Amino acid sequence: MRAVTWHGKRDVRVDTVPDPTIDDATDAIVRITSTGLCGSDLHLYELFGPLMDEGDILGHEPMGVVEEVGPGVTQLRPGDRVVVPFNVSCGTCWMCSSGLHSQCETTQVRSEGSGAALFGYTKLYGQVPGGQAEYLRVPFGDTLPIVVPEGPPDDRFVYLSDVLPTAWQAVRYADVPEGGSLVVLGLGPIGDMCTRIARHLGVADVIGVDLVPERLDRARGRGVQVIDLNAHGRELGDVVRGLTGGRGADAVIDAVGMEAHGSPVGALAHRMVGLLPDALAAPLMKTAGVDRMAALHAAIDLVRRGGTISISGVYGGAADPMPLLTMFDKQIQLRMGQANVRRWVPEILPLLVDDDPLGVDGFATHRMPLESAPEAYATFQRKQDGMVKTLLKPGLR
Ligand SMILES: NC(=O)c1ccc[n+]([C@@H]2O[C@H](COP(=O)([O-])OP(=O)(O)OC[C@H]3O[C@@H](n4cnc5c(N)ncnc54)[C@H](O)[C@@H]3O)[C@@H](O)[C@H]2O)c1
Ligand SMILES: [Zn+2]
Ligand SMILES: [Zn+2]
Repeated sequence: MRAVTWHGKRDVRVDTVPDPTIDDATDAIVRITSTGLCGSDLHLYELFGPLMDEGDILGHEPMGVVEEVGPGVTQLRPGDRVVVPFNVSCGTCWMCSSGLHSQCETTQVRSEGSGAALFGYTKLYGQVPGGQAEYLRVPFGDTLPIVVPEGPPDDRFVYLSDVLPTAWQAVRYADVPEGGSLVVLGLGPIGDMCTRIARHLGVADVIGVDLVPERLDRARGRGVQVIDLNAHGRELGDVVRGLTGGRGADAVIDAVGMEAHGSPVGALAHRMVGLLPDALAAPLMKTAGVDRMAALHAAIDLVRRGGTISISGVYGGAADPMPLLTMFDKQIQLRMGQANVRRWVPEILPLLVDDDPLGVDGFATHRMPLESAPEAYATFQRKQDGMVKTLLKPGLR
């Protein structure tokens, strides 16, 4: 089959690799029809080389049609339409039964001290072959795949694999009080969806922050108040306090993660800076060329005393310096983690059935053949061509 494989920093290719097989009685093989490209994939593209091997199959946001099931699978049949969660979770252990699927005790990668294994995500998470491929082996055939109805296009359901539950968890963890305010840092796919879910769940004041014009426009177009980091990077805290009665936001979601400085912002800043005269470029570099912990530090600044920070952006460092003194003094509540995908599906699925209140049908900015993956990764990383969310389609030529 054809699959998107990792070959090195900023080097992904589409290779011919062996088809997956049923290795365990409860496995299923899914023929992939749509598979998302995620900000988490960009961390592998840019930073996580030491944790990858050449040829690793990427991707963790797939859906498709069941092709084959092992003899131990009783609930799933060939032909079923399924979305595959990015966590490899058994659904039956103590953690899964407690709604903590990202901590599944059956698949925890204990050798690395990590939680549940993830599809297509480094040795830290089990080096499980990923879903940017024509076929995917899915363990726990009875309890892991989410069966979805026939009818609407893949766009309606594919985000159940990651974007929807991740954003849903971020908003739930943010726990905004009635009539309260929420700042969402980062308006990539995750942050954008957080603003949609927050508004759908009735959060009164939703403020989005980013520095990519198309991303700011997209959120603004759906009624979110946006702040452009290019214009207000330095005084972001004051701007937010000005909008929240002087106190700061009741909750802040960090939907940026560890590359707040590294490549997305750095690359973007450099690209924009390259196009500008020096006098304009220098101050821009100072606002955009922020520290990699910039989003988290901003969150601590923007949240009101006694407020909640909900982190969905992924951080990698084991010893990142944190303003612990301020965090303690401000009495902040901090919640975070990989999304427990399966846990939130029953709450989200009803929103995907009739109407489309979250706008998932038009969420993807790009739909491309699987073969175009190298180009899609490069464009997404550089935030060019208005790309926010891309679905790769193995069936598209
Ligand atoms: N917790 C989970 O289960 C989970 C699941 C999916 C993705 N993620 C993580 O969520 C994060 C976002 O994912 P995405 O797909 O939206 O990626 P993305 O890279 O497209 O989005 C990040 C956005 O943050 C913006 N940004 C950068 N620095 C900023 C700053 N200092 N302040 C405000 N905005 C800033 C960027 O311009 C970009 O639009 C990534 O770290 C990803 O790994 C976590
Ligand atoms: Zn993802
Ligand atoms: Zn489990």
